[in-house]
Amino acid sequence: MNDDEQAAGKRLSGARLWHKDAVIYQLHVKSFYDADGDGVGDFCGLTGKLDYIASLGVNTIWLLPFYPSPRRDDGYDISDYRDVSPEYGSIADFQAFVDAAHARQIRVIIELVVNHTSDEHPWFQRARRAPVGSPERDYYVWSDTDDKFSETRIIFVDTEKSNWSWDPVAQAYYWHRFYSHQPDLNYRNPDVVNELLVTMNFWLAKGVDGFRLDAIPHLVEREHTDNENLPETHALLKHVRANLEAKHPEVILLAEANLWQEEAREYFGDGDECHMAFHFPLMPRMFMALAKQSAKPIKTILRQTSSIPDDCQWAIFLRNHDELTLEMVTESERNFLWETYAADKRARLNLGIRRRLSPLMDQDRRRIELLHMLLFSLPGSPVLYYGDEIGMGDNIDLGDRDGVRTPMQWSDHQNAGFSTASPHKLALPIISDPQFSYAAINVADQQGDPHSLLNWMKQMLRLRRRHEAVSRGSLRFVKTDNECVLSYLRAFGDDIVLCAANLSETPQAVRLALPGLEGYVPVELCGGASFPAVGRENYPLTFQPYAYFWFAMRR
Ligand code: NOJ
Repeated sequence: MNDDEQAAGKRLSGARLWHKDAVIYQLHVKSFYDADGDGVGDFCGLTGKLDYIASLGVNTIWLLPFYPSPRRDDGYDISDYRDVSPEYGSIADFQAFVDAAHARQIRVIIELVVNHTSDEHPWFQRARRAPVGSPERDYYVWSDTDDKFSETRIIFVDTEKSNWSWDPVAQAYYWHRFYSHQPDLNYRNPDVVNELLVTMNFWLAKGVDGFRLDAIPHLVEREHTDNENLPETHALLKHVRANLEAKHPEVILLAEANLWQEEAREYFGDGDECHMAFHFPLMPRMFMALAKQSAKPIKTILRQTSSIPDDCQWAIFLRNHDELTLEMVTESERNFLWETYAADKRARLNLGIRRRLSPLMDQDRRRIELLHMLLFSLPGSPVLYYGDEIGMGDNIDLGDRDGVRTPMQWSDHQNAGFSTASPHKLALPIISDPQFSYAAINVADQQGDPHSLLNWMKQMLRLRRRHEAVSRGSLRFVKTDNECVLSYLRAFGDDIVLCAANLSETPQAVRLALPGLEGYVPVELCGGASFPAVGRENYPLTFQPYAYFWFAMRR
């Protein structure tokens, strides 16, 4: 067996289009479970919790960066792409984790921070000392002045004033789209492209199933452009994909491109770039729909989303490890969302809100369920952020985005059952706000409570698994006579699921236009009750505040 065959052997066999049915659980090794008691989560700890993850009904894990790093951007500042940070374990621990995940039919997506490295990376240390014009120097993007590429926006507006920083060793400015300690790699240099492929092969040999490509719109620069989404960047991605496709056609690329849907769609190419891309504009519109008690924001954005190549899939999400970004809304929408969800200005960061889902919903179980019901039934593969399945809180007193990355709350034992270290040694402090404390919110309690949020999530994911219409089906919005109600049909062959949700805080009645479904009987999925058959008239439904239905339509 050659290396590629060996790598393929480590992977799960079967469906090439697995990403279409993926339900992704996103987590930070650092904050998940600490097996060796040093206060920092690790791969051994994560492996020990795989049965828990499998019990949720997810089938894919997305790991935040776990590479050696000075961690000034929590690991998105990598100093070695081909190792595991010693705090989190060893390569052998990583391998054991991947194998154990696969044994449970769970796939693993890892981060590929393609755009930039840490300034501590040996490539940068070498580059700054290398002669001007040498291949080593050209691993990064240099300039004698800081006014080149002046049309390029700044992303981390709260901390950075320029995309250029002066390096006294190189006696030149280097380019960076994010923090100044994260110099951008220069993909015009073929050696850098090769390094990327070598890194991918390194992890492919360990059996990983996918790569999340961080910040890909910014990979290549050209003067007199805004340096985003350049044709050169797309060409590079096609090259990466072709390399992957040749030997590992079942491994996927997930694009992190925080863009309007039409630009993000470009990252699918003609099915020859990324397999998946996050749908950034949908996310704030789910929050908007709830705040405005109107189906319109969701309907409008999805109607404006054109179809994607057959083999591709959107990744959809409510929350993640970053601020809830409000870049893909208008300025007035952003102000409205800030006023509604982040009246306390400490919760605002850059152009977003650094809070978890449950505090954003004032711990209102009805609204938390409603948003997840949408997440689990709108087109795309849902991404669930660790801790949100139990309604974990956040800590806005912590810096940057740390407040949404605190340790998982496993039980009401010391350190929330996350670690046996003394509390001051923990990677991040456990949530102490009494409303969200681990005494009140933890996995162990919720596992034992049939009515818990955790058990509700499991049930919804179980139901979702039974209906390919929800993961792969078409979407058709249902005409209603009530703007507060969002209703849509998902259909895949004979499998038809009708979804309806009351986005309002008051009870509502609605009539649904269901042409072509006369005679069908809506069977409510959670309880199995049959509702009256659809007749010639529009179909009447009534809802409690924030209530929702999932129906299987039976002939
Ligand atoms: C996007 C990541 O999600 C974010 O956490 C990080 O700070 C930036 N990319 C820079 O790597």
